[in-house]
Amino acid sequence: MMDPCVGAVRRVFLQDVAMRDGLQAESVFVPTDDKVAFVDALSATGVAKIEVTSFTSPRAIPMLADADEVMRRIRRVPGVEYTVLVPNVRGVERALAAPPDEFNLVMSCSETHNLANLRMTRERSVAQLLEVMRLSAEARVPVNVSLSCSFGCPMEGDVPSGDVLDFAATFIDAGARGVTLCDTTGMAYPSQVAALCTDYHRRFPGAMLTLHVHNTRGMGLANALAALQAGVDRFDASLGGLGGCPYAPGATGNVCTEDLAHMLLLEGCSIGVDLPALLDCARRLGALVGHELPGQLVKAGRRLDLHPVPSSVAQSVAQSRTRAEAP
Ligand code: COA
Ligand code: ZN
Repeated sequence: MMDPCVGAVRRVFLQDVAMRDGLQAESVFVPTDDKVAFVDALSATGVAKIEVTSFTSPRAIPMLADADEVMRRIRRVPGVEYTVLVPNVRGVERALAAPPDEFNLVMSCSETHNLANLRMTRERSVAQLLEVMRLSAEARVPVNVSLSCSFGCPMEGDVPSGDVLDFAATFIDAGARGVTLCDTTGMAYPSQVAALCTDYHRRFPGAMLTLHVHNTRGMGLANALAALQAGVDRFDASLGGLGGCPYAPGATGNVCTEDLAHMLLLEGCSIGVDLPALLDCARRLGALVGHELPGQLVKAGRRLDLHPVPSSVAQSVAQSRTRAEAP
């Protein structure tokens, strides 16, 4: 197990998915102008990557039906990567009108979840995504593949880790630069995360690895820490902890970006993020979706954001300080 705090400062890449994973399950449509303004604000916080939207069927994900316009209108900041989720060839064809820096392809490791979410068998998804990769290579846009239900399926139960790694191998062999192991409904637990991430690194030493966890059972940060200690340096997270797959029963939000950023900073990692700016964005997101978000840091403040001393004890505190300072 690697200790993240030993030796040189570890660079860790935070990838915010609030605009895609976060918004997709909301019931009230967020206006396009607000989405564009929000992505522009997020671009200024220093996150490494923003998953801006998804080019899925507008009937399946009505919240993101304006993907084309959002991608055309955002202001791209050098150094920030803008990625979009695509499930099929039609998605890539649409997205190429305003090419992103990466295509994030998606399929599930569980046959049942793939049928529910993407309305096709895993075999058909693999065939579609390999065709998507051919088009992406022609357009010179790199590809990452997100594997849903890598740590369990809410309908099938455990998913064999060998199957997950075999799906990863299919896409890495075909030229994907990385894979995201997704815990779609918060079924992962820390030792399972560490084991799968370690096996991934052993089998694919040159490929990027992202961990994408949901906090459905309160294990989001614990799983992220386990992955960090297993050498993972890329994390998907959602501002405010917004999110969840609309086609996975019981799904809830991702691990919260600002909570994860706070923990990574305390663990001595370099994340390139302006935490106060991130907190401003998280507050703004709550207003945008019109309900409270599960993120903790917005409510509790950072660890050393101290509170004023209550007036009832202020005098005693001052006296004891004076006594302590007396020669
Ligand atoms: N963008 C826009 N429209 C699309 C599309 C895309 N990427 N892919 C398919 N469509 C349209 C087709 O043109 C067709 O439209 P029509 O009925 O007006 O002719 C319709 O959707 C159905 O096409 P079909 O190929 O039969 O797709 P489907 O109904 O089997 O749905 C998916 C397959 C993958 C497109 C759909 O299930 C989907 O978008 N799922 C998204 C799931 C998701 O994002 N989940 C959360 C993230 S994990
Ligand atoms: Zn997710």
